[in-house]
Amino acid sequence: MDNTGAQALVAQVMAHPKYKTITPDLVLRLSQEAIAAGLSGKPALKSVRNKLHQVGGAYFKKKVDYATATFALQNLPQDLHAPQTLEFCLDMLRVHASTAERLPIIETFFHTCLAPIAPVTSINDLACGLNPLAVPWMPLAQNATYHACDIYGDMLGMIQAFFTYFNLAGQAMPCDLIAHTPGEYSQVTFLLKSIPCLEQMDKTIAVRLLEQINSDHILVSFPAHSLGGRKKGMPAFYRDHFYALISGQAWTVYEFTFATELAFLVSK
Ligand SMILES: C[S@@+](CC[C@H](N)C(=O)[O-])C[C@H]1O[C@@H](n2cnc3c(N)ncnc32)[C@H](O)[C@@H]1O
Repeated sequence: MDNTGAQALVAQVMAHPKYKTITPDLVLRLSQEAIAAGLSGKPALKSVRNKLHQVGGAYFKKKVDYATATFALQNLPQDLHAPQTLEFCLDMLRVHASTAERLPIIETFFHTCLAPIAPVTSINDLACGLNPLAVPWMPLAQNATYHACDIYGDMLGMIQAFFTYFNLAGQAMPCDLIAHTPGEYSQVTFLLKSIPCLEQMDKTIAVRLLEQINSDHILVSFPAHSLGGRKKGMPAFYRDHFYALISGQAWTVYEFTFATELAFLVSK
């Protein structure tokens, strides 16, 4: 493979502000795929940027000012449950479409889904989006650890600042889940609404992740509506899809249906 061409394409893709903080590993992999598919020049650039928009950018309604958010964070009371902190978290959760649609169920979602294993001692939140800012609504043990990963460096920087400010034992790291499954053990891994997104890059990713995740439990979820809010019958479709993915596994599954999300707590 011509890696010089791929590196040049990475530089072109990341020259645009919208893509400049995405983990370069992911941009390189997509660039190599575009070149391997016979694309070059503008069509190659367009193809990589379109894919990045589809799997990441489409969830943001507008550009997020993480520097301002990180600054505002420093003025909050150092109490995760103080009204100002909750308001800050809700404002941040609202900027990402995936967490925004969890807001109507935020009071019950984590408490209900994690009740069988609460209080939770360690979490690995894969393709986290802004979900770590939902910590105040999670049934966590004291000193619980929280690892989070996604593709946006600036978003992860703000999440890391949040962990640090509230003295949470948290780490926010970039990842490309298609290329690598994080190996670190946690009591529970969150794979929230990310399977359909990751499957747009690799149809075999879900089985691989579910098998390789190093946790006693996995909280997997699927959206009840499409991003545009139109498609009907999605919960039934994703329910069938999920059970097909875990067929043959002797895993215990608790199922939870919410207005905006369908969730499964898998115990390995
Ligand atoms: C549907 S959102 C889910 C976000 C979060 N889990 C939640 O439920 O709110 C999908 C997330 O996957 C992330 N993502 C896309 N491709 C990825 C990859 N290759 N590796 C890791 N994360 C990825 C996106 O940036 C986005 O935050």
